[in-house]
Amino acid sequence: MIDRILERRICPVVVLDRVDDAEPLADALLKGGLDVMEITFRTDAAADCIEYIASHCPDVIVGAGTLLSPDQVQRAKDAGATFGLAPGLNPKVLEKAQSLGMPFSPGVMTPTDVEQALGLGCDLLKFFPAGAAGGPKMLQALAGPYAHTGVKFIPTGGINRANMREYLDLSVVAAIGGTWMVDSTLILEKRWEEITWLTREALAAR
Ligand code: 3PG
Repeated sequence: MIDRILERRICPVVVLDRVDDAEPLADALLKGGLDVMEITFRTDAAADCIEYIASHCPDVIVGAGTLLSPDQVQRAKDAGATFGLAPGLNPKVLEKAQSLGMPFSPGVMTPTDVEQALGLGCDLLKFFPAGAAGGPKMLQALAGPYAHTGVKFIPTGGINRANMREYLDLSVVAAIGGTWMVDSTLILEKRWEEITWLTREALAAR
């Protein structure tokens, strides 16, 4: 589950509007060598897309992103999501995920956020919005007082093929997330081969 993201070190952040796109997208990622994906709860189709992939694409580990309420956590879990993430740290959302036994990474951006997350029992944190919050330099600074706690980050927001290495080279970075290989135009225009190519390229650049 979450271990697979940590092994692959890259998690595509997917926004899907149509369930019909779920399988070709999962296939395109698999052809590129990636067997994990985060489907964000930003569309009405999110839960159905997760359910489709969880039941039809056994080789893919699917998680849910942008979980903003306990109800969404429940729906994600019911649909078959095996991990969850959020852009921020909402204790109610986190408690719900913990009560369901769902590995969950809340979003943090400041030292105060990091300490709150650690206090709530989380040590794998989404760092969002990574680029706007100071990028690798900010993560390096956060590593100073917190690396010894064992905390690790999954930066997302503003990561792309040009800057991904700067993040992956940091020891506090467990994995990175982003939309650059699965952006909504590529999905809307069904450019599956391009998604495969961009995925392959991202994995090769690790
Ligand atoms: C996320 O939720 O992680 C971000 O929307 C991804 O940001 P990106 O589009 O800049 O990769």
